[in-house]
Amino acid sequence: MFVLHGLLLEVAVMSAPLISLHRCCQRAAVLLVARRHWGSSSASPPSLVSRSLDFLARRFYDVEALLNWKSRIGKDQLRKKNLYYGYTHKLYGPDIASAYYILNLGGGFRFVGQSEWFRADSRGKFNWDFLNYKDTPVEEVDMSHTIINYVGLSNLERQPLRTLKVQGCPEVDDWFLAGLHKFQDSLEELDISHCPRITVGGLAALRNLRELKHLNVSSLPRISSPALVIILLEEMLPQCQITAHGYDLSQPQVGGEKPEERLEAEG
Ligand SMILES: *[C@@H]1O[C@H](CO)[C@@H](O)[C@H](O)[C@H]1NC(C)=O
Repeated sequence: MFVLHGLLLEVAVMSAPLISLHRCCQRAAVLLVARRHWGSSSASPPSLVSRSLDFLARRFYDVEALLNWKSRIGKDQLRKKNLYYGYTHKLYGPDIASAYYILNLGGGFRFVGQSEWFRADSRGKFNWDFLNYKDTPVEEVDMSHTIINYVGLSNLERQPLRTLKVQGCPEVDDWFLAGLHKFQDSLEELDISHCPRITVGGLAALRNLRELKHLNVSSLPRISSPALVIILLEEMLPQCQITAHGYDLSQPQVGGEKPEERLEAEG
């Protein structure tokens, strides 16, 4: 009884529901089990207990909350991990802040003038030696298969990025591509293959990248007329070599142009 009171008090005091929800769910589950136990062992459980349990059950042991739990945690992670690293920036400068952001997200990078890459391993662990490279800018970044997004890009904006790989990144969208104009004077290689959110509109924003020499747009699922899009990209970025694997260019296009016309355009 006392224990239960304590729990109820604690539940009432909790102010950050998202953080405490998990604990509450666990407790509500324990209490529900306890109720079942009481129900079978004694004929009439105290009514306060049963009312409290009902309250807890209604409040926290809600199926929908449990179903949403994982996706909410995911969104929270996404937001937190992509926040601006202002504290690290103030303490160690912009270069270390960028490096720390990249490693924390599970990516890899190379500093200007260094041949070795720093990378997070598959469990997200990394070597802290990068702290010795204060005031050394980052020039190559591989964020493939990470949750980098438009907001997180601000952690890289002071870097003279020469190459950027964001292969298979679920949060890379048209906004992200529009944000790449920050690197228009340095970026030479960009790999955005396998990014599920990118549309033709986002690709159009790449026209600002005047130094771009290699662009990989392979396997973008939302591009419906790849042959046409590749032609447009080549027109838009004449100095750039476009790589586009993973498209079936032999099929008539959704746009409805006749095969002869396409052949002419490609030749
Ligand atoms: C382009 O992307 C595809 C798919 O991610 C990859 O297999 C290929 O090696 C890349 N090509 C270049 C030249 O980077």
